[in-house]
Amino acid sequence: MSGAVEQTDTQLAAVVTRAAGIAREAGARLKEFFAAGVETEYKGDVDLVTVADRTVEKLIRTRLGEAFPEHGICGEEGTRERLEGEYRWYVDPLDGTTNFAHGFPQFCISMGLEHRPTGIRADEDGTLVAAVIYDPMRDELYTAERGGGAWMNGRRIRVSRTPVLAESLLATGFPSRKRHASPNVHFYHEFTLRSHGVRRAGSAALDLAWVAAGRMDAFWEFNLNPWDTVAGVLLVIEAGGRVTTFSGAPFKLDSREILASNGLIHDELVGLFEAMFAGRDLEPIPTPREFAEQRAARGAKRE
Ligand code: IPD
Ligand code: CA
Ligand code: CA
Repeated sequence: MSGAVEQTDTQLAAVVTRAAGIAREAGARLKEFFAAGVETEYKGDVDLVTVADRTVEKLIRTRLGEAFPEHGICGEEGTRERLEGEYRWYVDPLDGTTNFAHGFPQFCISMGLEHRPTGIRADEDGTLVAAVIYDPMRDELYTAERGGGAWMNGRRIRVSRTPVLAESLLATGFPSRKRHASPNVHFYHEFTLRSHGVRRAGSAALDLAWVAAGRMDAFWEFNLNPWDTVAGVLLVIEAGGRVTTFSGAPFKLDSREILASNGLIHDELVGLFEAMFAGRDLEPIPTPREFAEQRAARGAKRE
């Protein structure tokens, strides 16, 4: 398949199918490493990496090169190939390395494809056109192509219908350089008080896939890279959700921060971010009694 002309929907579907096969093969390798146990090394002061990250990135790079010789690849473990190409894969061979290294079974492979038409400026975003996220421990394969909906193991997935923050289940993450101060702990605290809870499961790509699947109502994080987000962003959008920065501005590949939700609670989340960044007094948290009254009022409105 040529990358020289824009791919049709049918061609894009074939790209996703091929990439999904690669993700499954990579997932099988990750599972073998996980079962055998791997030595942990340090990339920076506290940033972990394992032989599994490097081996699986090499495998994906080889397989993508065979399948799509004209496509570029940008991988977390250092792959930078054909970045001038019209199509570019962002690959995280193992999202959730810390979990993996500790034997905590929450991690995935994430592969997202950006279309960059000829003439596009180097600092301009192209269009996200294909997404594959594979969770090998659950054997859950998430796929999307632009305009074609979001899918998990061949079944259509959609974002949740939770209408308000107070009834939502949220997800977030913290940078892998965990021993550095992160402003997120304040947001974590505030959102925990105002929702059914905030999960911090350790794989940003799976967090996004779970928002797409309606298992979580929203996800936010500071300081992510495109290999963490590209596939998940397309999944959330194709599942009917919304993805922006914390201020509600359009999400860009170099945004670093991300806010993804079911759409229904998005403005409420943006409002809370705004108030917190401005250091304003936040809306008081409703007492259990007030909460019950609000809930009853909403129920009455729906009837
Ligand atoms: C990390 C995970 C984690 C997130 C970190 C990421 P890695 O990716 O997605 O959930 O909180 O910010 O760096 O290092 O496991 O590929
Ligand atoms: Ca990652
Ligand atoms: Ca990684």
